[in-house]
Amino acid sequence: MRLRLLAGWFPVVLASLVVDARADDVADPMKGKRLFAQCGACHTTADGGPSSVGPNLYGLFGRKAGSLPGFAYSEAMQKADIIWDERKLNEYITLPAAFIANNKMVFPGVPKPADRAAIIAYLKEATR
Ligand code: HEC
Repeated sequence: MRLRLLAGWFPVVLASLVVDARADDVADPMKGKRLFAQCGACHTTADGGPSSVGPNLYGLFGRKAGSLPGFAYSEAMQKADIIWDERKLNEYITLPAAFIANNKMVFPGVPKPADRAAIIAYLKEATR
């Protein structure tokens, strides 16, 4: 009797797991906006927005790394031969210190792939 009850619930639990996984696959810019708060301590995204601790990110996609005029980048970032796109950005914010050695962004990285995808989806909208 008890086992039957459990067996009855099993498909329901399984179905909700599947739905969760799907929700994670779709990058949600609204979630990304919330998650960007951790970047916003150092970065602005608007056209003509100020650089502070980090460079303004407007026009980021397609921009060469370390090239915003007037921002004092590290030598490492200036020499990094990178044009920012989704893939490079994903690699950078996974573990900034590992992707560009000696760059001066003091940020540990965003460990969850779904969180990074959401941040990138948000940035694509907010920086163009
Ligand atoms: C504590 C401040 C700080 C935080 C938090 C931070 N950054 Fe940065 N970021 C910097 C600094 C400083 C640089 C410049 C690094 C250099 O010159 O080596 C930088 C550089 C960058 C660049 C390269 C820009 C260019 O013009 O080439 C990108 C892209 C970037 N950050 C994205 C992010 C994202 C996305 C987050 C959040 C997930 C984030 N940063 C969090 C300080 C920060």
